[in-house]
Amino acid sequence: MTTHELFPLDELEPDSARRVEVSGRDIAVVRIGDDVYAIGDTCSHAEVSLSEGWVEPDDCAIECVAHGAMFDLETGEPLSLPATRAVPVYEASVVDGMVVLKLDAGSGGGAS
Ligand code: FES
Repeated sequence: MTTHELFPLDELEPDSARRVEVSGRDIAVVRIGDDVYAIGDTCSHAEVSLSEGWVEPDDCAIECVAHGAMFDLETGEPLSLPATRAVPVYEASVVDGMVVLKLDAGSGGGAS
């Protein structure tokens, strides 16, 4: 497990997302209220960046900008078509005002 300090939470507006690249992985960091989530940035339907999409705070999800598939931010599972496969999720938290990401050294993330 490796820990990565990303950026101050204040730099990310509530209910928005930002793409980061960590250890060669594209990851969408999403803020809902004062909580943060980290999810694989590439939609499982096509090669589209999920961080360009819309955060859905009521569903704790993000909606792909291309064709509207929604992904659960806690599990990475698709909540609607056309996506049918999960995207990876990662462990994100806020420590002393900084967004911190924990990555498993080996696997691609928490979802399988
Ligand atoms: S590329 Fe994301 S729903 Fe089609």
